[in-house]
Amino acid sequence: MIIAIDGPAAAGKGTLAKRLAKELGYAYLDTGALYRAVGLAALKAGVDPKDNAFAEAASADLDLSLLEAPELRHEATGTAASHVAAMPVVRSNLLNFQRNYASNPPGGVEGAVLDGRDIGTVVCPDADLKLFVTASAEERARRRTAEQESRGEVADFEAILADVKARDERDMNRAEAPLKPAEDALLLDTTLLDIDAVFQRAVAVVRER
Ligand code: C5P
Repeated sequence: MIIAIDGPAAAGKGTLAKRLAKELGYAYLDTGALYRAVGLAALKAGVDPKDNAFAEAASADLDLSLLEAPELRHEATGTAASHVAAMPVVRSNLLNFQRNYASNPPGGVEGAVLDGRDIGTVVCPDADLKLFVTASAEERARRRTAEQESRGEVADFEAILADVKARDERDMNRAEAPLKPAEDALLLDTTLLDIDAVFQRAVAVVRER
């Protein structure tokens, strides 16, 4: 069983994907972390994330230790990730890893949950269940702000909102694997639903299948 969860930044798809995987005993892959690792490799090397040659090499030989780096979740890393993610060569370098993970999840478990932007459309078009999780940009920025404040960081709502909108714009309008719901995806708008309600809804749908 493969469950594909897509949606824009900070819509709640990661939280949902993790909880679903735990509930079902499935493996979980955060595919955004792979793009973040490539973006972070550039930032750490002092190279512009828009540098094609660097991103190509970094994605061909991904430094998996970057997945554990504290900077992986920084806003700047998310922005760098969305630049490298627009490069077709980076996407194709990361594709095999994602498909392998979905069809042979680690630990011999019976299924995998993958979250990202193009799981239902490109990575796993034959997924058994596709969810597209959205929320308004303002609500997503509000959650990001609260998240950063809870970590003791200084957060600027307006700056975060501008960043969320810019990232949406890049993710939805790129030529390769743009962010969009698969035709057979179930849409879940989390603007007014809390994560528990979204989780219960998703579990009910999985059980139906
Ligand atoms: O989900 P997260 O914010 O960690 O993703 C970071 C960036 O990686 C996204 O803005 C997007 O540009 C890119 N990404 C992608 N395809 C995926 C997952 C993430 O293009 N499957």
